[in-house]
Order: sequence, then C-alpha cells, then structure tokens
Amino acid sequence: MALFLLFAASVLLAATAHHVPGQEDFLSIDCGLDAAFSGRMDTYTDIPYESDDPYVDGGENHEISTDQQESGLEADLLTLRSFPTGTRNCYALPAQSGAKYLLRMQFLHGHYDGNKSSSPVQFDLYLGTNYWDTVQNGSYWWSEAVFAAWASWVPVCLLNTGRGTPFVNTLELRQLEDSLYPDVTADLSMSTFERINLGANTTTRYPDDPYDRFWWRRASSSWAYLSTQSPIVQLEHDSFDVPVSVLQTAVTAVGNGTMLNILTWEGYKASLMFKVFLHFADFQKSQLRQFDVYFNDQRLDNYSPTYLTASSVQSSGWSKSPDGMYNVTLAANNVSVLPPMMSAYEIYSLIPHHTQRTFSKDFDTMMSIKHEYGVIKNWMGDPCFPVQYAWSGVKCSNTTDNITRIISLDLSNSNLHGVISDNFTLLTELRFLDLSGNSMNGPIPDSLCKKNANTFIFRYDSDKDMCNGTTSSSLSKKKTTIISIAVVVPMVIVVALVLSCLIWGRKRKPKISTHDPPRVPEPRSAPASIKQNGDHLHNTENRRFTYKELENITSKFKQSIGQGGFGLVYYGRLEDDTEVAVKMRSESSSHGLDEFLAEVNSLTKVHHRNLVSLVGYCWEKTHLALIYEYMARGSLCDQLRGKIGVNETLSWGTRVRIVIESAQGLDYLHKGCSLPIIHRDVKTNNILLDQNLRAKIADFGLCKTYLNDMQTHISTNAAGSAGYMDPEYYHTGWLTESSDVYSFGVVLLEVATGEPPMLPGHGHITQRVKQKIATGKINMVADPNLGGAYDINSMWKFVDTAMACTEDAAIRRPTMAIVVMQLKESLVLEESREDIRVWGSFTSTKGDPLSTFGPSAR
Ligand SMILES: *[C@@H]1O[C@H](CO)[C@@H](O)[C@H](O)[C@H]1NC(C)=O
Ligand SMILES: *[C@@H]1O[C@H](CO)[C@@H](O)[C@H](O)[C@H]1NC(C)=O
Ligand SMILES: *[C@@H]1O[C@H](CO)[C@@H](O)[C@H](O)[C@H]1NC(C)=O
Ligand SMILES: *[C@@H]1O[C@H](CO)[C@@H](O)[C@H](O)[C@H]1NC(C)=O
Ligand SMILES: *[C@@H]1O[C@H](CO)[C@@H](O)[C@H](O)[C@H]1NC(C)=O
Ligand SMILES: *[C@@H]1O[C@H](CO)[C@@H](O)[C@H](O)[C@H]1NC(C)=O
Ligand SMILES: *[C@@H]1O[C@H](CO)[C@@H](O)[C@H](O)[C@H]1NC(C)=O
Ligand SMILES: *[C@@H]1O[C@H](CO)[C@@H](O)[C@H](O)[C@H]1NC(C)=O
Ligand SMILES: *[C@@H]1O[C@H](CO)[C@@H](O)[C@H](O)[C@H]1NC(C)=O
Ligand SMILES: *[C@@H]1O[C@H](CO)[C@@H](O)[C@H](O)[C@H]1NC(C)=O
Repeated sequence: MALFLLFAASVLLAATAHHVPGQEDFLSIDCGLDAAFSGRMDTYTDIPYESDDPYVDGGENHEISTDQQESGLEADLLTLRSFPTGTRNCYALPAQSGAKYLLRMQFLHGHYDGNKSSSPVQFDLYLGTNYWDTVQNGSYWWSEAVFAAWASWVPVCLLNTGRGTPFVNTLELRQLEDSLYPDVTADLSMSTFERINLGANTTTRYPDDPYDRFWWRRASSSWAYLSTQSPIVQLEHDSFDVPVSVLQTAVTAVGNGTMLNILTWEGYKASLMFKVFLHFADFQKSQLRQFDVYFNDQRLDNYSPTYLTASSVQSSGWSKSPDGMYNVTLAANNVSVLPPMMSAYEIYSLIPHHTQRTFSKDFDTMMSIKHEYGVIKNWMGDPCFPVQYAWSGVKCSNTTDNITRIISLDLSNSNLHGVISDNFTLLTELRFLDLSGNSMNGPIPDSLCKKNANTFIFRYDSDKDMCNGTTSSSLSKKKTTIISIAVVVPMVIVVALVLSCLIWGRKRKPKISTHDPPRVPEPRSAPASIKQNGDHLHNTENRRFTYKELENITSKFKQSIGQGGFGLVYYGRLEDDTEVAVKMRSESSSHGLDEFLAEVNSLTKVHHRNLVSLVGYCWEKTHLALIYEYMARGSLCDQLRGKIGVNETLSWGTRVRIVIESAQGLDYLHKGCSLPIIHRDVKTNNILLDQNLRAKIADFGLCKTYLNDMQTHISTNAAGSAGYMDPEYYHTGWLTESSDVYSFGVVLLEVATGEPPMLPGHGHITQRVKQKIATGKINMVADPNLGGAYDINSMWKFVDTAMACTEDAAIRRPTMAIVVMQLKESLVLEESREDIRVWGSFTSTKGDPLSTFGPSAR
C-alpha cells in the first residue's frame, strides 16, 4: 500500500510540475529600480526583477533610507516609486486576456523622503475600476489579488486619498492554472487576507510554490507543531495546489486537548465579505482522527483528513461577520482517538466588481496605439472609467449597459510620428478620429478609407489625395483633409444627435437613416402593427390612433388610472389584448401642445429599458393623447404611501433595485445622447412599476434638450413639482442635469424614510433627514414600515448618496452615473445581508465523500 502511494505520488507530481507555468512566465517588477540594473536576479529565488519604467508613466524613483536597510531585507524592497503628483497613477501590466493571475504589491516606506517623523501614509489600490485594498501601514504592507484578466493589460492604480504620497516597492504578477481557485471568474476577483503555512518556521514561496504564492508562518503557544518527510499526494486538477512542503507541516492541539482553535481575527473592514479555505493532509495514520469543523455559524461534521493526500474544505459563499470576528474551530468528535490537525489555510475577501469598464478589445487597441506612438498624455487605467479619469481625447459611448465602446478619439497636435496604423481601424465603433497637427506620413490605410463617410469623420493633414477618389482635388491643397465633407460642415450636431440617439438607443432597429434628424412625427395614416410583447413595443413605429379607436380601446374612457401632467390617464386594451395606458390632454390643462410635442419628441428619440415606452399617439383636432405601455403596479409613490390596492411594504432590497433602475433611466437621458436631455420633473409619481416591479421613468412633458454646448440653459418659466425643485435652479434659472439629480435625491430620501417631501409644519425632507442623521442613528431615518429589515451599512450608503444628490450647490452633486454606482454598492451590502440569512452550510472541494454539510444546529 505504501509503495503504491509513493509511486502514485511521484507520477502525479511529475505530471503537475510539467504543466505548471514556470518562472519564465513571471513578471517581477522592482519599482524604482534604475533601468540599467533591470534584470537583476533575486538572491533567494533566482527570479529576475525588472525596472518599472516601461509599465508606468509618472512618479519618482527613491531608495529607502540607509538606516532602514537592515541586512536580510529583500532587495526588491530597497527601491520604490512614489507618486507626488496626480490623484491617480496607474501601472499597466501585460497579461493574457481571460487567464487567471495572482498579483502582489509590496510597500515599505523606509523614510525614503528623509522625514523620520512623517505620519503613516494611507492610500487606495484599484484593480482596473474595482476597489481592491487600502494600504494602511507605512512600515510594511502587502496586497494581493487573484483575478481573471479581462483584457491584454491589467491596470493597477494607486489613488491618493489625501493621507500622504502613494508609493510602491514591488509588483509581482504570476499566472495561475485555470483550474485553480474556481471561485475566481471574469466577474469575481478576490483579495488575499491571509495565507498561512501552519507549523512552519519560515515563509514559503517560489520555488516551493510554483506560483510564488507567499505562505506566511504563524505561531501560537496553544498549538503543537507536527512535521513529516513523507511525500504527500496532490490529486490532479487540485483547486489549490498547496505546495507539498506546506502540507508536510501542521499544527494540532497541545496536551490531550480535543479542540484546535485555529484563529479568531477581526476583519479590518467590517463591510468586506470573506471566504476561508482550509487545507489538510494527515501524516500520522496510527489511529482514527475525525473532527467537526466550525466557521462562525457554519459547520461540517465528522471530517477526516486523508492520509498523505491533500484535501481542502471551504466555507460556502462569501460571508460577513457582524462583529468582525471570525472563528475556525476544529473539535474532535467522540469516536476520534487523535486530536484535530490542520496544515494551512487561506482567507480571501471579495473584490466587488463594477460592471462599468471599457470593452476589452477597445482597451487593448488603445494600449497598442499608446505604445505604437509613444503617446504622452494622461493615459492610465481604464480608458473610460471612472469618468473623472477618462483618458484625454477619448470619448466613450454613454450606454448604461456593460459594453462601453470608444466612439471618438482626438489625437490632434499630439506630436505623433510615423505612418497611420491599422490599429485605429480596430476601434470598430469609432465615429470621429482627429490626427491633424501631427507629423505623420504615409497613406491612409484602406480600412479607414472604406469607412462609411456618413458615420465616420476623419481629420488628417495631407498635401495630396490620400484615399483615391474620396477627397476632392479642390481640398487637396488645404492643410487639413476632411473625409466625409458632406457631413462635417452643417450637420455635425444633427449627426451627433442622430448617431447617439438612434444608433445606440435603438441598436436593434435595422432601418435607420442617418440623414433623418429626429423630429416630431407628422400625422401619418398607416398604422404600423404592434407587437404583443410590451418589451418590443419600442421597436415598432409609433402608431397613430384615431379618437374613435381610443374610445374602443378604453371602452369609452371607463377606467381612469391616474392623473398625469396634462390630464387623466385611462386603462385600455389594444385589439391584441396588449394593455396600455392612455394619457388624454384635458381641455383645461395648462400644459399645452408644447409639452405634448416635447414628450413625443423625447420618447421617439430615446429608448431604454428604464424609460417608459410609447406605443402611439392621437392628434385629431383638439384631441391630443399619448398611448404608453401599461405599468401594472402603478407609481413608486403609490407603493410607498400604501395606496388602495397596495397591501405589502416594499422590502429594502426591492426599493434599492427600483431606484437603481430609475437612476439608470435618468443616467441614460443625461448621457445616452450626445446632447443631454433633462427630465425636469423627477418624482415618485413619475417612476412607474410594471408587474415585476421593474421601474421606468415616465412623464417627459417638461423635458428639455440642450441644443448645443454653448447654449445657456436659462429657462424663464420655472417648471417641476413642489418639494423636488433644485434650489439652485429656483434662484438662478440655470437648468442642468444636476437639477434632476437633486429631484432624484428627494426621491431617494422618500424611499428611505417612507415620508413625502413636504410635511406641513416639519419642513422639507432634506432638513428632516439631516436632523435625524445628526443623532448618528440610521434607524431614526429609515422607514418604520421596514421593521428594521435592512442592512445598516446599505441604508447609510443609500442615505449618504441621497444627501449628496440634494446638496444645495449643484456643483457638489454627483452625476447620475456615480449615483448608480453608489446605489449598486448599497444593494450589494443589502444582498449580502439577505444571503447571510439563507446561508449557513459548508462545502468541501474535493477528496472526501463525507463532505456534504448541513447548516449548524445552533
Ligand atoms: C515630516 O512629517 C511631518 C508629519 O507628516 C510634518 O509635519 C513635517 O513637516 C515633516 N518634516 C519635514 C522636514 O518634511
Ligand atoms: C505595521 O507594520 C509593522 C511592521 O510590520 C507592525 O509591527 C505593525 O503592527 C503594523 N501596524 C498595523 C496597524 O498594522
Ligand atoms: C524549525 O526550526 C527548528 C530549529 O530552529 C528546527 O529544528 C525544525 O526542524 C524547524 N522546523 C521546520 C518545519 O522546518
Ligand atoms: C494525556 O493523557 C494521558 C492519559 O490520560 C496521560 O497519561 C498524559 O499525561 C496526558 N498528557 C498530557 C500532556 O496531559
Ligand atoms: C469559536 O467557535 C467554537 C465552536 O463553535 C466555540 O466553542 C468557541 O467558543 C468560539 N470562540 C470564540 C472566541 O468565539
Ligand atoms: C457520539 O456522539 C453521537 C452524537 O453526538 C452519539 O449519537 C453517540 O452515541 C456518541 N457515541 C459514543 C460512543 O459516545
Ligand atoms: C498595433 O500596435 C502595435 C504596437 O503597440 C504593433 O505592434 C502592431 O503591429 C499594431 N497593429 C496593427 C494592426 O497595426
Ligand atoms: C458622457 O457624455 C458626457 C457629455 O454628454 C461626457 O461629458 C462624459 O464624459 C461621457 N461619459 C463617458 C463615460 O464617456
Ligand atoms: C454584459 O453582461 C451580461 C449579463 O450580465 C453578460 O452576459 C455579458 O457577457 C456582459 N458583457 C461584457 C462585455 O462584459
Ligand atoms: C488606391 O489606389 C491604389 C492604386 O491604384 C490601389 O492599390 C488601392 O487599393 C486604392 N485604394 C482605395 C482605397 O481605393
């Protein structure tokens, strides 16, 4: 038996070693190292370390102060790069798109600035657009992430948060086998909290660990140390590939103890969600060893580590401890003769992902262009996000879905040399490219010449015809050649509008004419057919109804379902049983033709799943009506105020989801078209809910579009609803997107508190909430109808967001895009609370048939 195992072990180990990426795949960067010393070997690992020059644009090189250079200090920590200028500085590390990586950064301040009394520096790390870690200790800090590369470059950003100059000493990127850490996917990354080799004297890394993971030692007097020289078998496709040398040491209970309390620790950020992996291999098979594994409220009964074989156990799901305490305990059961033992463990925290990032191929292409021309601009991190750090000269499609494309690239006067690269054509959604004012030569690539002149504008200096037959000879003497002349001169604005609204808004609609500016539909006779599915309504032409038809649809206006901005709204059913809402303009309405036209105009231009869609309209003599998709659950206002027919309180999670969708609708209005559309009447009555509580913004009667950037957005007649009106707009008459943000902030406060904006005698909701926040108790703010069923951090995040939106000064309010992101964070917090409620079981990753686990009895 022993012989067989030995044999199996050596074969398997050889097989594993064969396909493990070796150190030649490592990218090891010694930050601040002079380029002349690039390639120096690490004395312990023999891994070559390079200078960081090629991977970063800014920063200064420094050396830690000599009195900090203790002997034995690893050489890669001696130098560092600091970033005294710019709020955000990023490295771009080459990667293989889709592959899994371990990325480690190390920080050792070492008084490099010569100031021995400087206070500890603190700054944030981002992996792409996702928050990763906060570097908190100037003495020594390491941060590690495991993630899948979403593009051929990994942007790693250091964000100055106002507590000292960010710096970094070492960056190490290690590719992992795809089978490792199955939790990690394109949508999930994790940050290492601890990786401990129990029973070891020293930290283990490469070459013992082929992936160069650090396995730190950890000592405790309540543990007895065990070790073996026997080989330990790794099953093939092991999800963790714990190094054999790590498994050859372990700890067990001291004396005759039956309990091994491996750790209790405090999550240094209570909001983080954790997962724990425990690694075992028994090497004392004299008698039975069996124990129960506890992790906070999770429990796994009767676990027996396998003899001389690696096995692992992991907590199920990502969990947050309410008190920041985590407790892994192994307790021998009554049949076990030997005490529990454990070899190693890993703890990771979840890196929450923002969906917003640039389409990966566009990102890769931009990096190629940056490198090909040595572009010296502030091109760092993700090209489009976060919006405040978007690359200069780059414009991105403002769609709210997760595929953000680069649509405009202005590289004029950027001191570029060389030929025009084919790389530009790889930006397939590009509508505008300006290469004028550079010293470029050579022909324009065919692929650019062939782009549709109606949808692509290209500026470039040339003395001769560059695209055969495309450029007229009269233009050829001018310095700047503009292809697609027909479009450029009078129609830039129209084209921009049409492109942004029609192409992106209605991608699925095939028959778009880019020569047709959007306008109010003329009365037309032939009604187009209406599809049955409400979601497809917007794909059909808007139908024109006769007054007679409206009477039929609504059974002679039998059932009124509400009061809209310009009249009563009636329930109706089309011939094919599609339910609709018919909004009639009443004779007495103060809102007239202008509002009617504004609404038709907006609704025909913008289409988004969170904006109510128009089925058709009626315009017959004095009869004006708009026909919409029917929203079965009425308005958010009805739901919050418990109108008749509404008998359940919306849960906190549902409320947050509803406002996220509404926020996305508004964000689309503001950003989805090249010219922002301002709703001007955002309120809970205008957020409608369908059968599945999906939210859509309605009532565009007051909305306004900027005609151009120069226009001053002064509106003489104040519009909007009392309680929701932007105070700044009220005083100045300046109309901007932030007026909607203010109104939306009021909506958020209503959703959180369940109260209307104005309560006679108690002032405006912003004042009321401010007073309650001052008590420091969020339960004072929250809607009592929620009965306390909400995550406290989620509620705080939500209310903080609402308060930011309702800042008096418009300039201090966030954009809707930021609001969406913050509300999503609030939702994640709430969902983790919901998860914890239903969660409480362990899963084992491999090896053992015992490993089916039920919730703890407690
Ligand atoms: C050293 O740092 C401290 C605290 O950060 C600061 O007050 C002091 O001015 C610094 N001294 C020098 C010489 O820069
Ligand atoms: C900072 O690092 C030093 C050296 O590793 C350590 O002694 C100290 O406890 C750390 N402080 C914090 C707050 O982590
Ligand atoms: C730990 O160190 C001691 C002596 O310093 C040594 O005897 C022992 O073998 C070491 N243990 C391991 C697992 O290396
Ligand atoms: C463990 O138990 C045995 C038998 O009960 C006893 O002889 C021995 O002294 C105990 N060892 C320790 C360290 O308590
Ligand atoms: C840790 O968990 C074990 C088992 O549930 C329990 O007996 C022990 O008291 C816990 N320790 C702490 C510090 O909470
Ligand atoms: C061991 O414990 C289990 C459950 O706790 C119990 O059913 C069983 O009788 C016990 N066995 C012995 C030998 O005490
Ligand atoms: C794109 O740029 C890279 C340099 O970063 C260059 O190697 C490559 O050949 C270019 N690709 C095309 C299609 O021009
Ligand atoms: C969205 O469009 C606005 C102008 O309407 C622009 O300022 C902003 O940068 C755009 N956002 C992105 C991510 O491109
Ligand atoms: C966008 O999101 C959808 C659903 O979440 C997903 O299936 C798709 O792969 C995502 N696309 C990109 C480019 O991330
Ligand atoms: C321009 O003319 C050259 C030579 O006639 C030809 O090879 C090339 O394909 C032409 N390019 C375009 C865009 O028509």
